[in-house]
Parts: sequence; C-alpha cells; structure tokens
Amino acid sequence: MTIENDRPGDLDQLALLCTGSDYWNTHVDESRGVRCIRMADGPHGLRVQDDDSPDHLGLGRSLPATCFPPAVALASSWDAELVAEVGGAIAVEARAQGVDVVLGPGLNMKRSPLCGRNFEYYSEDPLLAGVLAGAMVRGIQSKGVAATLKHFALNNQETERMRVSADIDPRPLHEIYLRAFEIAVREGEPWMVMSSYNAINGEYASQSKWLLTDILRDEWGFDGLVVSDWGGVYDPVAAVAAGLDLRMPGSATNEKVLQAARGGKLDVVVLERVAARLRQLGERTASIVPAPKADVATNHALCRRAAAESAVLLHNKRGLLPLDVTSVKSVALIGELARTPRYQGAGSSAVNPTRLVSALEALGDAMSDVRFEAGYRLDGVADDTLRAAAVEAARAADTVVMVLGLPAVDEAEGHDRTSIELPAVQVDLLRAVSAVSSRVVVVLSNGSVVTTAGWRDQCGALVEFWLTGQAHGEAIVDVLTGVVNPAGRLAETIPLRIEDTPAYIDFPGEGLHVRYGEGLYIGYRWYDARKMPVDYPFGHGLSFTQFDYDDLVIDRHDASDPIAFTASITVANVGDRDGAEVVQLYVAAPSGVLRMPEQELRAFAKVRVAAGRSERVTIAVPRNRLRHFHPQAGWVETGGEVAVLIGASSRDVRLRSTLDLPNKPLSEPLTMWSPLGHWFAHPQAGPKLNAVIDANGGMRGRLGDLLADPAGRDSILGIPLASIMQFPRIPFSEQDLANIMAAIDPRP
Ligand code: BGC
Repeated sequence: MTIENDRPGDLDQLALLCTGSDYWNTHVDESRGVRCIRMADGPHGLRVQDDDSPDHLGLGRSLPATCFPPAVALASSWDAELVAEVGGAIAVEARAQGVDVVLGPGLNMKRSPLCGRNFEYYSEDPLLAGVLAGAMVRGIQSKGVAATLKHFALNNQETERMRVSADIDPRPLHEIYLRAFEIAVREGEPWMVMSSYNAINGEYASQSKWLLTDILRDEWGFDGLVVSDWGGVYDPVAAVAAGLDLRMPGSATNEKVLQAARGGKLDVVVLERVAARLRQLGERTASIVPAPKADVATNHALCRRAAAESAVLLHNKRGLLPLDVTSVKSVALIGELARTPRYQGAGSSAVNPTRLVSALEALGDAMSDVRFEAGYRLDGVADDTLRAAAVEAARAADTVVMVLGLPAVDEAEGHDRTSIELPAVQVDLLRAVSAVSSRVVVVLSNGSVVTTAGWRDQCGALVEFWLTGQAHGEAIVDVLTGVVNPAGRLAETIPLRIEDTPAYIDFPGEGLHVRYGEGLYIGYRWYDARKMPVDYPFGHGLSFTQFDYDDLVIDRHDASDPIAFTASITVANVGDRDGAEVVQLYVAAPSGVLRMPEQELRAFAKVRVAAGRSERVTIAVPRNRLRHFHPQAGWVETGGEVAVLIGASSRDVRLRSTLDLPNKPLSEPLTMWSPLGHWFAHPQAGPKLNAVIDANGGMRGRLGDLLADPAGRDSILGIPLASIMQFPRIPFSEQDLANIMAAIDPRP
C-alpha cells in the first residue's frame, strides 16, 4: 500500500532516484544523503564525455586517458594480480576525472568467435573469466571507485542484442553463463552490476526478479546497485520491482514509476531501498580520501608491461624469436597495421589514448636498419604496387616482421562478425613474402580469434598480441627482442574453421530467439567432446624457455572443508631464460546421471621460475568449483573417482592422478516413475520390493520370462514402476509400493 507521505513531492523525488539525471549522472537527494554519482565507460580505460553532447557509441572524442589492453589481451595473461593492477590504475584516472563508477569489466562468455564485442570479454571458460573479472573489480574498487560487472547476463552476441532472447537449458545457464558472474561477484564483491539488453528464456534481464534478486542478491549475496544498460529498460515499473535500481540514461522526470508508486502498484519500500543503495554507493566511492594521483607516464609503462605479458607465442618453429638486435642486420617491417595500429575495439569502450606508439615507431627506435612497407590496404582492396614494394623489401632484408590483423571495421560494438579469416590481401601478401624470405615473423593484432590454419606454415614465428592498448609498438618490440619472455596463454580456442565452432548452427539465432543448442559445450568443452582437431588449443602458449612438470601430489581435504583438494607440482625451468608458466588444473569427472565434459578447468596458477631453477606450486581447488547443476535437483556435488590433469594447455597434459571425492555419484531420488532397475538397486527399497514379489509368487507371465532372459532383462528393468503396474498379474499392488515409499528415504 503506497501513499503520498507527509513530505510533499517526496514520492516524485524517490521516483527520480531510480533513473539518471542525464547521460552519466544520478539525481541528488540531500535529505537521504544521496549525492550525485558519475559514471563512465569503460572496461580498459576511461571514456569521460561532455555531458551536453555525449556520444553514446564512442565515435567522438573524450578526455584523454590511458588505453590499457582490453580484456581479450589481459585474459591471456592468466594473471589476476596484473589484471587487478590495471584495474587500480584505471580507477586512479577515474578519480582524477571525477568519476565514481567505471562501467566495466565486461564478463560475457565467448560463445562464438563471431561476437562483435569479444574483445571486451575474457574467455570461453567461466572460471578463468570469473576469476579475472573479479580481480579487475577488486583492483578498481581498491582505489575507491565502483566497478560494474556487465552485461548480466547472456549478452553473448551483438546481433539484435536489444531484442533477442537467449534460450538456454538450466544446466549450461548455471554451470557456464551464470557461473562466471557468480565467481566474479563472490571474489570481487562489485558495488555495481549492469543488466544486459537481451532477454533470457523470454524474460528481459532488466526486469527479471529471478535474475536480479533471487540469483544475484539472495543466492550470491550481492549487496550493491543494479544499473540498466543504456536504453535497455522495456518496462520501468517492472524493472524497479524486479530489483533494477537505476535506469540509465535518465532525464528530469520518471513518470511511469511515479504513477505506479502513486497508484499503489509499486511499493514505496522498493523506492526507499533504491535510495539506500545509492547512498551506500556514494559512501563507498568516497571512502578513500584524498584521491590517489594519476600519472600518465607510469600508466603508459603499465600498459606496455601488461600488453607484453599478455602476448601469446603461438609458434616459434624455426627458433626465429627472440630477435637478437645485435646480430639481425636489417629488418623489413611490413603491414599497414605497423603504421596504423589496431590497439582497441570500437564502441562504448573506445578510449582517447594519452599516447599511441606504433610498431613502426618502436621498432625504428630499437633497431638501426628498419625498412617499412605498408604491403596491404586496410580496406581489403588489392594493391599490386604496395604488395610488390613489400616483397622487394622482404627479399632485401635479413629478417621480416609482418604486422597482420583485422581492420577496425570488422570488430565493433553493435554488430557481429561473419568470418574468422584474416583479410585475403594480407594472407596473399604473406605467401608472397615467405616465397622470398625464410625468416618471417608474424605479429597479429585482432580483438577476436582469427584462424591461422591456412597460412601459419608460411612464417617461422607467430605471436598473437590481440589488442594491446596504447603501448602497442613497445609491447611488440619487447616480446620480439626477448626483453619480455612471452607468458601469455590462450583464454580461448583458436578453431580451424568457423564451421567447427560450437554455436555455428545456432548463432546468432532467428526470429529474435537464439537457442544455445550446444548446451554446456562451449569452447574446449566442445572440441574435446567431439575429439576435433583445433588450430591452437585453449591454454596454449609457448615461451623462450622450457618447463618440466614433476612430482604431482594430491592432498584430499576433509568433506567439511570448502577446499576439496590441493595439488602440488614442481615446475622446473630447464631453459636458459627466466620465464613464467601457467599451470592449468583440469578435472575429468565421471559421467553418471549427468553427462560430463571430458575435462574442465578448475584452477590455475601463474608461476615465475628463474632459468635453471624450479618452484613448488600448490593449487587449491574449492569444493564449489566442482559442483554441477542438475536440471531438477539444482546444484549438486557429484562424487566418485575423478581424474586430476595438470597441463601446460588443455591438450598438453603433463601429469595426472585420480582421487575419490566424498560424495556418492549422483543418482535420482526414487519415485513411482523410477525404472524397476532403480527400485531393485535402491539399498532400502530393493530388498523390500523383492520380499513383496516373493511373497506374492514372483514375477509371472511375459514380464517374468523377459526378466529371466539375459537378453530381455534390461528392457524390463528400464520400465518405470508406475508403468509396470498397468500390466496384468503383477505381484505387488499400489498399496504395497506406497508402504515401501513410506518406509524408506527415497533420496539417492
Ligand atoms: C553498452 C555498455 C556501456 C553503455 C554506456 C551500452 O551501449 O552496451 O557496455 O557501458 O552503453 O556507454
């Protein structure tokens, strides 16, 4: 029941708080201690815009800020500390620009390599994505700025992102797509979450009580503020009632919410709760005084280190890398992208960088004889003159460095890609160059996967830099010359062909519905289950040194301990350079009532090991990471013998062991519709049922004959008891079964 209270105009005021005052700010209510809160994109650097003429999709200029490597690159570092450090630096810049809330990190899953916004997201694996996004949240909030986990949830494509319904079964929904958010919410404790534009199984995320209240708050313990994506609220009243606190952007009125409150359709308690959450956000974001100082040069250096740490050395077959700057006499640097770097994606996350260093600039500084040729055009139009000059330069040079990748138009918020191939003009140029040089290093710049299968044999070394942020050229030179020993690992599989990918048939859907037909089998879970070859597997990445793994010891913890087990391994650096290894722990659980993926990443650790030394690494596996979601029973801890696989990638398992997890393998509770075989196998019901059958003269007739026949037995054991009851002359009655049910515990 709602009434206009004794403060005239107060309901108007309360209703206003549920929306922004403009593009980026909230309304103020001094009487409730609610101050104006300012928000800005984005995930990998700040995009602070002019309030009077904002530019929603980031196509115009904003205040200069450090453009850090986007999530696609940072994820390849598998380094939560590094990600948190970047988060902290973004937050310091935010405070310097008067921003309270950073609208990031983005945490949607890489369901298809075609998603146009994959550059803003971390991984195809929910654990890796959740842990790293959680680290980013912690880093941002450590400086008194709110982080915003977005886009909650299932915004895994750009096509029809504002209208499409992601139609998904309960198990993949919980085990993959929500799990990433759950991990980040629990580990990062974000002060804000942004709802996604899309619907989930027909209900818009922004007005889903199930999502925004039951799951996010009640199950995961989120205690912050939920903001909508910009323009992503369909029914403002339903949204507030469901748990969406703030609708963005906003205006000077919030008529629908006000009328609903006046008419008693929206309880004033709900509005007061929004006000309390805004007040709390204001307090949280003012907690560190004075604001730490931002330093452009320090942040640029962090950007350079983070980008180099995230580079993935895909292959180095001819030992071309690292380049020895003293012995390499001349370098042909080829590719328009060496002069016009591709270092971030387009859309709301686009940052106006404080500096931008191209590969041309950086390599020119590092080496004496560098000749640059563009070689190709970014619009994909063939240009024989450019091509011929590049081939000529390659022929004359001692070593060739080619910068290849995707042009900016290929990857942007608002649309999906249609191909995972590099532009044909670039591949054609590579072939021509490799015909005249045996020392070709390819550097890749792209925000989402490109397949290398058709051309990778044309180069001696291949390094995936993803999108580096503004220290582009310096990071490339650091890795190519060995100043940084690459330690990045793929956070997503590189497939051979788009046709091989899990969502190929069901992406991006039709009729405003996208069916997640591949279920749980996203990324490596899919390629493993189907035993498919891939271009490069999840977790892959080489180093300029080598690591040996040895001496795996598993320590199973007591069933009451939230840690299920720890695994200890010795990692030895047997090469002659210091380096870092990412130890990956996968668990292969036995299939029972639930079919299990071949293996699932359950923990990882990045460890630095000096040349010639070894380190003992201990990795803890929390029990809740081993849970599975049964469509009817909900979260269950399945037990039995699981295999623990320790790998340098998902397809390079170095050590393995088994352990018995305490819970019983999952089975269904017994009901009248359970198969006869389940009844016989149940420890309490089985003997009782057999006793009744014996007392009534045993199974007779056709059913009895088939049960006695080894070839027919299984077909009878598979028939539900309630169905068997419908056959003539069955030696037990409905009453007998009811008596048994009453006397046993039907749970497995
Ligand atoms: C994007 C969000 C972004 C918001 C504000 C939306 O279009 O989906 O990620 O934070 O705009 O720019």
